[in-house]
Amino acid sequence: MTSLENVDLVSTRKIKVSTRNVRKNRRDTRDKEKDSLSLIPENFIFVKKYNNINSLKEKVLKYTKEDWHKYDYRQKNYMVHMNTKTIPLIWNEMDKYNQRNLEKDNRKFWPEADNYKTELDSLSQILTEKYGEGFITSALLINLPSRSIIAPHVDNQDAYFDLVKRTHLAIISDDEVRFIVGGEDKNIKEGEIFEINNNEKLHEVKNNSEIDRIHLLTDWLTIKGERNE
Ligand SMILES: [Fe+2]
Repeated sequence: MTSLENVDLVSTRKIKVSTRNVRKNRRDTRDKEKDSLSLIPENFIFVKKYNNINSLKEKVLKYTKEDWHKYDYRQKNYMVHMNTKTIPLIWNEMDKYNQRNLEKDNRKFWPEADNYKTELDSLSQILTEKYGEGFITSALLINLPSRSIIAPHVDNQDAYFDLVKRTHLAIISDDEVRFIVGGEDKNIKEGEIFEINNNEKLHEVKNNSEIDRIHLLTDWLTIKGERNE
């Protein structure tokens, strides 16, 4: 009898110990999940309101249909961008190894960049304050015409997106323009600059408005060791 009681006591203790282990394992898993989630950047991070949006608006509204159609590399090479139109300011096409340029001195400045010197300088200042010393690797004016979409997609894996901070400055927009990243739906107002983290996330853009949406997209590469974050 005594020995049986002892057996029961031992087995009860074992059960208690194993229940404690299960709880601990669950806690560990939850903590790990939390840690991995905290590594995923927020979809949209507000950077700043751009001061002189009206002069930028004036400039981009002067472009004709032909101006928007002149450069078609992006819409031809990326099916998902087939509806968009681009005017490059600072932009290198992929090299023969399908790599992007990361060298400050090898950046390609397109003729239109001359008309945006002040704006690119102001943006560089804003991005330095936010992320630390660096430079703009790409700057593109992107037009998503009225009543068109960038269909839901996940970008091709590209280490470049881990290196740069991609921001959008909305120059011309409307309440009916939606940027959707990882299920989060955002309407970026004219003059607002947002960092957009859509790397490896499903994203799409819908322009349900009557006007063409024009953003200035910039990629900011921090100089190693100077990062603020
Ligand atoms: Fe994309």
